Amino acid sequence: MQWSKEEEAAARKRVEENSAVRVLLEEQVKYENEASQYWDTFYKVHKNKFFKDRNWLLREFPEIIPVDQKTEEKTQESSWDNVKTGAANCFSRMHCPIMPEEKNLGMKRCGSSDGPSRARSHFSNLDSEEHSEGPLKTELFPGSSATFRILEVGCGAGNSVFPILNTLQNAPESFLYCCDFASRAVELVKLHSSYRAAQCCAFVHDVCDEDSPYPFPDGILDVILLVFVLSSIHPDRMQGVINRLSKLLKPGGMLLFRDYGRYDKTQLRFKRGHCLSENFYVRGDGTRAYFFTKGEVHTMFCKAGLDEKQNLVDRRLQVNRKKQVKMHRVWVQGKFQKPLHLTQKPSKLVSPLLSHG
Ligand SMILES: C[S@@+](CC[C@H](N)C(=O)[O-])C[C@H]1O[C@@H](n2cnc3c(N)ncnc32)[C@H](O)[C@@H]1O
Repeated sequence: MQWSKEEEAAARKRVEENSAVRVLLEEQVKYENEASQYWDTFYKVHKNKFFKDRNWLLREFPEIIPVDQKTEEKTQESSWDNVKTGAANCFSRMHCPIMPEEKNLGMKRCGSSDGPSRARSHFSNLDSEEHSEGPLKTELFPGSSATFRILEVGCGAGNSVFPILNTLQNAPESFLYCCDFASRAVELVKLHSSYRAAQCCAFVHDVCDEDSPYPFPDGILDVILLVFVLSSIHPDRMQGVINRLSKLLKPGGMLLFRDYGRYDKTQLRFKRGHCLSENFYVRGDGTRAYFFTKGEVHTMFCKAGLDEKQNLVDRRLQVNRKKQVKMHRVWVQGKFQKPLHLTQKPSKLVSPLLSHG
């Protein structure tokens, strides 16, 4: 649905009012430094009862489902499947030890059932590089034997994890990583009756911490899911987060994004005294929320070197019949792809006018 000029003007006015008073700087520093603790307390209080399962996820993001065609493509890209690791490519197994089931998957993959052509092309690839850099190892890591890998960032109590895992049951070659910086949230995911360590690895990780390693190497993910997470991160840190996440994607991999849009009812409902900076607010429980425009989303993801495949504003009217109130929901949804081939850095652009003297 479209907003009328009047509706938009009223929303802008409401935001001007609720942003007029800003939270004191020392309090802002506390919300930033203790962000994971505020979210941890949130999960202590609400457990997995707060958010509903994201059942719309697979409808909006069918890219999450590995299709046969993609699996075929992967046979050609076998150098990405068994990832070689060097000193610069640091990843740790500490967060996510390899489970017995995972070990079995790894064994199966190394065996003949995986297809000789695949193994050959992988090793021929490595051979050519061995000459210059010495022997390369093929490392096992959680999900190393999978051919399709997804990471959900800020997974919370698993409201996306479990609908995805349900679907992946029919795709045993796929693997789901999920992380959150609230350790209680990760605990809730791991304790869920549908959690399967053979196909899922939940780990505690702060995406703002550039020194914290992932339990897998760079460049191996087919899909990254960023659903209602970026909004809770300080705007100054968002670009760094997206830059680092894009490194985890394979060429051709997709980053799928959905989050709060500018003038969503949640933004309009904030009272004075909750505004941290423009369009960024703190809730009563210390958790924070930013409200995006489509343009901001475009700029951030493209700056990270990703190509825009979708970027839309989803506006809906919600009517609460009991209270007789109409509310506008606004979300921004985007799909961004890592280019298949690295394009050359644009050299200095010379205006055709100037080049003609
Ligand atoms: C609004 S919840 C959304 C949870 C889940 N994605 C969903 O859609 O149900 C935001 C989640 O992001 C997590 N989060 C916020 N900042 C994070 C960070 N820097 N690193 C990892 N997780 C973070 C929070 O702990 C919380 O679980």
